[in-house]
Amino acid sequence: MTTEPRTIRLRAPDNWHAHFRDGPMLDFLVPVFLDSGWRRRIVAEPNITPPVLTGDRAVWYRDAILERARAHDPATTVDPVMTIQITETTPGATVRDARSKGVGIGKVYPFMVTTHSGNGVQDYDKIYPALEAAQDCGLIVQFHGEHPSDDIEGLNKEAGFTAILDRIRARFPKLKLTMEHITSRAAVDWVKAQGDGVGASVTVHHLFTTVDDVLGYSKASGGLMRVHHGCKPQPKWRDDRAALNEVVLSGHPRFFYGGDDAAHLRRRKEAEGSACGVWNTMAALPLLVDLFDREGQLDRLDPFLSEHGARFYGYDLNAESVTLVEEPWVVPAEVEATGMGDSVVPMCAGETLKWRVRA
Ligand code: NCD
Ligand code: ZN
Repeated sequence: MTTEPRTIRLRAPDNWHAHFRDGPMLDFLVPVFLDSGWRRRIVAEPNITPPVLTGDRAVWYRDAILERARAHDPATTVDPVMTIQITETTPGATVRDARSKGVGIGKVYPFMVTTHSGNGVQDYDKIYPALEAAQDCGLIVQFHGEHPSDDIEGLNKEAGFTAILDRIRARFPKLKLTMEHITSRAAVDWVKAQGDGVGASVTVHHLFTTVDDVLGYSKASGGLMRVHHGCKPQPKWRDDRAALNEVVLSGHPRFFYGGDDAAHLRRRKEAEGSACGVWNTMAALPLLVDLFDREGQLDRLDPFLSEHGARFYGYDLNAESVTLVEEPWVVPAEVEATGMGDSVVPMCAGETLKWRVRA
């Protein structure tokens, strides 16, 4: 007798932080997003080269992503959410213009902390004109929450960043903001203590890994450093991971999914000066279904993936759905990046996952 595998039908998930890149990498990545179940809103982060600094460039970028998506699936429902990067020199008028062109999100990177952040912010007072305009015109601002000061050591940079956000909150109380890809109990507690205007995005890798996985202290890493787990902010201690799991599984309405899907070519990762970022696009939904299922909280998965964020950013809930089947599959050890003479190593490379996204 054969039994049918279990299936789970989710409301089509949104992703409030993702990197599509540009050029051949964009061609390569868009189909993977769609095939992996990311078929609705995906926030297109602006740290390409040159960066997305204006509404016009954001519109160009959205069109470029949509063109690739339509080539892969003419009936695609994907909706790339436009962002602009806010830097120390972004005028208020640029923010207003971008908003009028449909840009919903401004992104603030800290100087020299992560990939392509050489134009990031060192002095947060300098972005006050842009934040003032954002508050006025309803642009939501997402912060990569790590303090750029060299005086604050790496694993403390996120907790240290809440002091910057406290000052911004005091100055712009009506500004809606997101603390992105949070990794620490300190950030969870800070976000919980704020009002409705503050949300937080959580990635799948920060729900699953700790700093020991990156540095090679876990048995699973066999004593070897695992650069493909390396990202900014780096995963923290077990207690921090527990705080993230607790808040997400509790169904808190201001915490939502933002994958920070950050593909880098293998030669850029496996090098001295390894680029930061985890490519979790394929593994994310299978891992999240498994996590919420194991914890007996499957009814909280749709809210985390497609309701809390939509409500926070002011969108209708998606009508589409995505189905996962309980059918084991092995995540490829690497995926050839067509036309780039290299490959990208996905999260959970070579591992067997329990759930598979149905095409
Ligand atoms: C991101 C990337 O590769 O663009 N890397 C990362 O480690 N998260 C940039 C970012 O979101 O910080
Ligand atoms: Zn990112």
